[in-house]
Amino acid sequence: MARVLDGQDPQHLQQAVDALAAGRLVAFPTETVYGLGADAGNDAAVRRIFEAKGRPADHPLIVHVPNAESAYGLASAIPPVAQKLMQAFWPGPVTVIVPRRPGVAAAAAGGQDTIGLRCPAHPVAQALLEACARRGLVGLAAPSANLFGRVSPTTAAHVAAEFGDEVLVLDGGPCQVGIESTIIDCSRGHPVLLRPGILTRAEIEAAIDEPLHDRDAAAPRASGTLDAHYAPRAKVRLMSTDVLQTALQVLDQDLPQLALYARTVKAPRGMLYRRMPDDAAQAAQQLFAVLRELDAEGVSLIWVESPPPDPAWDGVRDRLARAAAA
Ligand code: TXA
Ligand code: MG
Repeated sequence: MARVLDGQDPQHLQQAVDALAAGRLVAFPTETVYGLGADAGNDAAVRRIFEAKGRPADHPLIVHVPNAESAYGLASAIPPVAQKLMQAFWPGPVTVIVPRRPGVAAAAAGGQDTIGLRCPAHPVAQALLEACARRGLVGLAAPSANLFGRVSPTTAAHVAAEFGDEVLVLDGGPCQVGIESTIIDCSRGHPVLLRPGILTRAEIEAAIDEPLHDRDAAAPRASGTLDAHYAPRAKVRLMSTDVLQTALQVLDQDLPQLALYARTVKAPRGMLYRRMPDDAAQAAQQLFAVLRELDAEGVSLIWVESPPPDPAWDGVRDRLARAAAA
């Protein structure tokens, strides 16, 4: 179990900053999910993230900064489209991929000549990043604080359960957004959506005033864009409302290993069931916690009702599709 510190307590915050400055790992809350942080300017500390997560070392990490000005220390240029995104959404759940300043945060960037930058809105993250900046750290490299391929953590307890005492966890309560940031590659002349988050395409396009392109085969490798990712231990099956209804009807016996996560479809009596909220933002906020909870009940199968086609559900639909692909 990793040790949990209180993110509201200035002394605990100071302990976290000291640990980071010494090259140790500190998990911290953001509004999306908890991140597993290290000093982005310390290659040895960054390598510890990859070791702790069991993540391949060529997967680039997002570097978290306290404000837009700090981005200039890590980027060789901030293209206009990235500037518009930063202005519209920072601090907030958007990551921009921009050209990397040579010689800076090489390990965090996983060998790419670009770098992912994000300024989180969570007050504990803000306080931590500001204190780290005062200590001279360029930023905090932080992937989601889960073991590679598993569901992202949205509480301090989720993080503590997966790591040992090499990791400190700053507790900042449950994450409000619940799914990871929207990632937009701004390094290729036209903006490309690498990972949908809580923002809709329309909101993003209104901010950048140009069309957002979809990821193609030439896009750089990114673990959050692997098909099978964000998976609980149980097998996830995503089904349309009709198919799910029929499947439940033809079940002729109780399946104790089966759980249901559905919005409109009702569970047969006795079946382990969580109701998916009607509101996309609420569903996103709970999604990973629900998958972890059902996993903890020991089921081997989770049947999930496909979310509605509405663009507000793009992020949730994306995470469910990946969980189902594992
Ligand atoms: O909400 C979030 O983004 C959370 C919190 C902690 O900030 N972080 C997060 O990090 O989800 P991670 O490492 O689990 O996912 C980051 C994604 C990965 O798919 C990574 O490959 C991609 O961002 N990425 C990072 N830097 C990149 C780069 N230079 N080019 C392309 N993809 C990049
Ligand atoms: Mg992740």
